[in-house]
Amino acid sequence: MPVVTAAASVASADRPILGIETSCDETACAIYDGERGLLAHVLHSQIRLHAEYGGVVPELASRDHVARIHELVAATLREAQLRPDELGGIAYTAGPGLIGALMVGGAVASGLALALDLPLIPVHHMEAHLLAPMLEPSRPTFPFVALLVSGGHTLLVAVRGIGQYELLGESLDDAVGEAFDKTAKLLDLPYPGGPELARLAEQGDGRRYKFPRPMTDRPGLDFSFSGLKTAVLTALKTDGDAGAAAQDRADLAASFQEAVTDTLAIKCARALDATGYGQLVVAGGVGANRRLREKLAALAEQERFALFFPRQAFCTDNGAMVAYAGWARRGEGRHADAGLFTTPRWPLAQLRPPSAHVS
Ligand code: KG4
Ligand code: ZN
Repeated sequence: MPVVTAAASVASADRPILGIETSCDETACAIYDGERGLLAHVLHSQIRLHAEYGGVVPELASRDHVARIHELVAATLREAQLRPDELGGIAYTAGPGLIGALMVGGAVASGLALALDLPLIPVHHMEAHLLAPMLEPSRPTFPFVALLVSGGHTLLVAVRGIGQYELLGESLDDAVGEAFDKTAKLLDLPYPGGPELARLAEQGDGRRYKFPRPMTDRPGLDFSFSGLKTAVLTALKTDGDAGAAAQDRADLAASFQEAVTDTLAIKCARALDATGYGQLVVAGGVGANRRLREKLAALAEQERFALFFPRQAFCTDNGAMVAYAGWARRGEGRHADAGLFTTPRWPLAQLRPPSAHVS
């Protein structure tokens, strides 16, 4: 995390924080206030823009963020019924993510911070995902185990406080969202693959194909998902040259989803056991998966731990989680003159607790 210059930030600490998210294919903006909670959140998804290419095209993503972001910021202020001079700071996703896309949000945040003489607060995208359950009425308390499952990350983290993150396990190859997306492509499903595969799986028999639960037969909390995708490919090939029938594809989708969600559930139970913590937080895009939610809810009842999810809309990328993380780190604002910090890679475990606490 960059060095803090706190004078301006502390002065405006009790005012709402505007958060901007542009790390990938969602342009989003929100305002969070310590007393009143979330005041507004607005989002534009680029799904239709990238659909014809079957995945996110980074340059198109950046350009579309440029085209949308100003109106989104204005709409967020309108929704919150706030004037810009009533804000206390501007937070933005500084990484990890697509560098061009990150720089659009960062540049707009920086310009706003400079014009309004407000602190500029860089936010770690995965920390924002991790803290998203804090936006819900029923919130976890520290410490807890977090399962972060997105398009770029699969992480099990022991969370002892804000910025106190111990990495317990991670994927050694594909992230779980990536595995969903790649398998969806094998099944000829449109982008974005994860939710499409989950939809197809609803019509399938998840017990038909016996896929492995990777790395659950040995100790440890790491994951590996690339072999599952290959197992689906092999099953597709053995279904014949004519291609799998519609029911076969639905059964493949369901069997894949069962294998992934079983694996995640097994490792979550292990992580809770290893830490002795009684709370599990699940966040990131794959956290929207209905089957994963069902399985973890059943496990929580059986093993008697408390389970926390953000609402579906705050599992996938959004501005609310960035505004909240910005508020949590509001003492870390720096003057926009200090230069713009963005980074495509930024390990979560490098984060430290907020350096200045403000009340
Ligand atoms: O957190 P997110 O919106 O963006 C990243 O930071 O990556 O996560 C996007 C990922 C994609 O891989 C998408 O396919 C997956 O989350 N995803 C899902 C579902 N909804 C989104 N995967 C499985 N089931 C879903 N319902
Ligand atoms: Zn994300």
